[in-house]
Parts: sequence; C-alpha cells; structure tokens
Amino acid sequence: MEITAYTNVLGIIGDPVEHSFSPKMHNFISEKTGNDYVYTAWHVKASDLKDAINGIRALGIKGINVTAPHKVEVMKHIDIISDEAKILGSVNTVVNRDGVLYGYNTDADGLYMAMEKEGISVEGKNVLIIGAGGVSRPIIIRTVKNNPKSVTLMNRTQSKAVLIAEEIYKKTGCEIFTDMYTKEYDVVINTTSAGMEPQEDKLPTEDIPKLRDLKFITDKTAVVDLIYNPEETRFLAEAKKRGAKTMNGLGMLIYQGVIAYELFTGKEIDESITRDIKSKIFKR
Ligand code: ATR
Repeated sequence: MEITAYTNVLGIIGDPVEHSFSPKMHNFISEKTGNDYVYTAWHVKASDLKDAINGIRALGIKGINVTAPHKVEVMKHIDIISDEAKILGSVNTVVNRDGVLYGYNTDADGLYMAMEKEGISVEGKNVLIIGAGGVSRPIIIRTVKNNPKSVTLMNRTQSKAVLIAEEIYKKTGCEIFTDMYTKEYDVVINTTSAGMEPQEDKLPTEDIPKLRDLKFITDKTAVVDLIYNPEETRFLAEAKKRGAKTMNGLGMLIYQGVIAYELFTGKEIDESITRDIKSKIFKR
C-alpha cells in the first residue's frame, strides 16, 4: 500500500490508546480492498479533546474512532449525532463529511451483528445482562430495541443497576428488571470486567448472591461474554459445562470496527474480510 498526498487519513483517539487493535484492523481492510486510506492512533488527553476534534476539521481527517475516556465528552464537540448514539449517550465513531462532523456508536451494533452470525437472537427471549459499567448501557438499550420478552440487569453494586434501569425507563419507556425476573434465562450477556486480567480467576457472578449458583444457565441458554482475552473466560467455561452455547467478545470488537469502516468510506465490507481479520490478525 503506497501512501501519497491523496491518501485519506483515519485514526483512533483515546487515553491510553497504545493497546488498540483498530489501526491493524482498519489498515488490513484498506489493504485488502485497495481503498486509499491509512489509519493511525493518537494519544489524546481529556484536556486536549476539543483541540483534537477541531484538528480533524483543520486537517481534513476523514474520520476517527473514539475510545475511553472520551466517548461521552466528544459529543459536545461534534455537529450531528445519530439518534441511536444520542439515546446511548456515547459516540465511538466520528465521520467528517465536507467539514461537518457526524457522530455514531457502533459498539452495540457490533455485538448484535456478531450474535446474529452465531445464531443468537433476543427476540421474545428472557435476557440477563450482568454489569452496569460503561459498555452496559448501550447494550441494554440496543437489546430493548430487539423485542425481547424481558430484560434483567444485575450488578455487584445493585444501586448502579437501579440507576441505569430508571434512566432507560425515562428514555424509552421500557422496564428493566433489577431483580431475577425468571429462574432460567435464554440469553445472558456479561459486560463486566470479571474474567479479564487482572481478574482472570473471577466469575462475574460470585459477588452477586442471586447469580452465584449459576442455575440461570441451562443447556438452552446462550451465554455471551464481551471479554475476548482470554479467548474463553472462566464464565464461558462454566456455561459450556452446563451445556450452554457460548460466544466471546472478539466478534463484537471486529464488527464494531467493520461498521465504523463502512461509515468512514461509504463502502460495504465483505464477510470474507471479517473472517480474514479473525484468522490473520487475531489468529483465531
Ligand atoms: P467502566 O466500564 O464504567 O469503566 P468498570 O469499573 O470497568 O466500569 O466496571 C465495569 C463493570 O464490571 C461494573 O458493573 C462492575 O461492577 P460494580 O459496579 O459493582 O463495580 C463490574 N465488575 C468489575 N469487577 C467485578 C467483579 N469481580 N465481580 C462482579 N462485577 C464486577
């Protein structure tokens, strides 16, 4: 791939940002498709966020991904925010179209696309979401949109789950249960960091008394863990033992990037490229 004066520039901002897989994924897609784009990473401190966003306009950068801790704050500095990102309350993708900055959130869509590919649907199902941190809210809101029978949100610190449930009720009129709605769930999504370094040995359920016995998982349950490193968390291993179908977070990571790439370039990315990203970049 030759970088010339015509090459379009993309990138990711975050603090920290060095661990991001996005440059590898996006440059891989450009190489495969022959699209004239290059993607880099910028370590941007919160105090420099406004200047960084103005820099996109000044330099004619075509688009950026936004990662922690800027996903909420960035909304103040862009021009048009998609309805979905507004409801989710966070933006992870900014597209520069002729100097106008558009904000999107592709995280929850990435998860749902990955689930769809694995044949996991929430429609008409009892869904349990564990965790009330940063990624939880967009996922709950996206889940509600897909017509589940019920959505339950359980968190180690229950007051946080109640706050999110109240906020979502105000925004969407949908009731989110913060206590067990049913004994067994059809779809379970772990959004907590329990299971990821430095908590590899932890189950997200051990500190939540009503979930501790894992009886809500049966051989009819699909269990999704947003963690992709390790490839199989202890939680997924336990779910497998109970006969559940399992999925880790790698698909979400890949699809949120692919959807962002499509927004940046206006070009559709073939499924075969997604498979190549998985095997060539993530060796899975
Ligand atoms: P954020 O995503 O906002 O940065 P975080 O501190 O990384 O937040 O935590 C994300 C989620 O993981 C939270 O729901 C957190 O539970 P608390 O609200 O009770 O802190 C959850 N979490 C982290 N470690 C956990 C553990 N060992 N067991 C259960 N939940 C855990």
